[in-house]
Amino acid sequence: MIRIYKMKNLFSRARECYNKNMRFLGINGSYRKYGLNAKMLNFLKKEFLTQDYNFEIVHLVDFNIKHCRACLSDDLKLCKPEKCFEEGDDFELLVSKMIKSQGIVFSTPAYWYAPSAIMWNLIERMTSLENTETKFLDGKPAGVIAATGEDGAQSAISSLVVPLIHMGMFIVPFGMTYYSGKEDDPETEAYLRRLAKNLVFSAKKIPPYCWWKNKEEKCLS
Ligand SMILES: Cc1cc2nc3c(=O)[nH]c(=O)nc-3n(C[C@H](O)[C@H](O)[C@H](O)COP(=O)(O)O)c2cc1C
Repeated sequence: MIRIYKMKNLFSRARECYNKNMRFLGINGSYRKYGLNAKMLNFLKKEFLTQDYNFEIVHLVDFNIKHCRACLSDDLKLCKPEKCFEEGDDFELLVSKMIKSQGIVFSTPAYWYAPSAIMWNLIERMTSLENTETKFLDGKPAGVIAATGEDGAQSAISSLVVPLIHMGMFIVPFGMTYYSGKEDDPETEAYLRRLAKNLVFSAKKIPPYCWWKNKEEKCLS
């Protein structure tokens, strides 16, 4: 109970601080902390800093996130964030960072035309954040970026965008880009700059509206 109360508290505080005290989060789904995903996220961090905003980068490899237990498939009512937080892993810690941030960038390598297994594992666990009356990601601006050796970035990105939209996230305009075999690509960098600006703009302009209930208030239940 205390855990879910804490999350609801973070959720309502995060919604209040749009336009001020904003912070952003980048989640690296690569097994390498020094690869192209990390490079893009570091590029974004500098872009956020030029706008005076903090952008925290977290590497999923540093987090112990257990597999989803698929409680939802047994009974919809069993899949709840409070239950997921009791797994004794780092899911709760990562979720608190997600909820506290005013925008999130999901960054994944294309592994066989799909997101990495650790990124997809996170998406599966995030089911509990959606399968509850308080949709914890409701209206949160997001972007999705990827890195590949050659191709497969678009299919990896699309695989992430669909569930994120269904979880209530706001994929910002021009909110996707990728390095495709070629790093330091000026076109990708132009898109990354645009992504940082559009995330900040969306976080400032989108009021704390409850998109799930179509109400200006009462997102919490
Ligand atoms: C298991 C595995 C599968 C991969 N599958 C693809 C692929 O389908 N298409 C592709 O272009 N590159 C593929 N790659 C290459 C990675 O996408 C590429 O090295 C990317 O830069 C990895 O991200 P990172 O640099 O952030 O670690 C694969 C790499 C691994 C390890």
